Amino acid sequence: MDKELKILVDSEKLIARIKELADEINGYYEKNYGLNEELTIVCVLKGAVMFFAELSKYLNMPTCMEFVSLSSYGAGEKSSGKVSALNLSLPPLENKNVLVVEDIMDTGLTLKFLLDFMKTKCKAKDVKLAVMCDKKCARKYDISPDFYAIDVDDKFIVGFGLDYNENYRNIPYIGYFE
Ligand code: XMP
Ligand code: MG
Repeated sequence: MDKELKILVDSEKLIARIKELADEINGYYEKNYGLNEELTIVCVLKGAVMFFAELSKYLNMPTCMEFVSLSSYGAGEKSSGKVSALNLSLPPLENKNVLVVEDIMDTGLTLKFLLDFMKTKCKAKDVKLAVMCDKKCARKYDISPDFYAIDVDDKFIVGFGLDYNENYRNIPYIGYFE
């Protein structure tokens, strides 16, 4: 990419916002289930890896961590329009509370697929979606996150797990190219 990488949300602000989001999430589960009920947090690899690691540090209830691997983007900046399940093996989740943790909701295709899977195949009790970035303007499916850290407009972003052709995931802030 011969454009310059600019900062959209710096590391300090992003981490502070993720802490706030964890408080919101703690509040929801405490109010509805108390803080002793186990929560299964599901990381959607690879993009959610950093957000998942950061967010999970501040959750107060007992948690189990699970990892699934899905892909809807081919190489580059456009969604392929279909979801490939690279790894969807999960323990039994019947009657469990599940929080799916994803890097970004864009068209909504990936999380619509996963939400349907968690509800109908896994028969989880309560499935909620937490995303780091909500790109509302790109939405094509009728879905929205239950919890999100930041709003982004229609630009392609990288960093804090998000990639461009598998690069830039390790950058500690959210950036864009200009
Ligand atoms: P959908 O369209 O299914 O897309 O909501 C979700 C997946 O697409 C990827 N995605 C991005 N990746 N910068 C990225 O690095 C972006 O701006 C972007 N928008 C979407 C991401 O993997 C997400 O899981
Ligand atoms: Mg992703």
